[in-house]
Amino acid sequence: MKQIRAIYPGSFDPLTNGHLDLIERGSKIFHELIVAILRNSEKEPLFDVAERRAMLMEATSRWPNVRIDTFSGLLVDYVVQQKAHAVLRGIRAISDYEYELQMALMNRKLNAQVETVFMMPAETYSYLSSRLVKEVFRLGGSVRELVPPEVEKRLYNKVHPELSMAKQGKR
Ligand code: PNS
Repeated sequence: MKQIRAIYPGSFDPLTNGHLDLIERGSKIFHELIVAILRNSEKEPLFDVAERRAMLMEATSRWPNVRIDTFSGLLVDYVVQQKAHAVLRGIRAISDYEYELQMALMNRKLNAQVETVFMMPAETYSYLSSRLVKEVFRLGGSVRELVPPEVEKRLYNKVHPELSMAKQGKR
């Protein structure tokens, strides 16, 4: 059987349990999965690339065929550089589809050799996004079920440092 190396690109600001669910699913069907953090995003991130990389490394260390990397520039160029064959993206709901289709077709236009594979995360995570995690956490809501423990800890340190010691002890 052909061995397929896939790239799972994204901002991961921060990593959520939805991303992790997809990484686990991807690690089961691809021989190698590279989780690639976009370095030159136009968005103002909460966590810098080194922090996002550290969170991903901690949370994915249990899967030996998952590697964490960063990239800048065009995704298709990075895919070629890594000698990968596919791009993995998650679709949570119909609302994701239009944007994902646009990206997949643009990537195909740029390089017809690069295939995009869509997987669906567990339905428990269908409403989950990094943006909402940040908003809920900033406003004092709990994100305990939504992100891995190491991400919650870093959120406390970054966003609510005054609460961080007390809360961390309770986990
Ligand atoms: O998690 P995100 O923010 O939805 O990820 C978007 C990402 C990183 C996959 C996308 O912005 C991307 O691939 N950027 C790299 C630049 C590029 O290749 N742009 C053209 C893609 S159509």
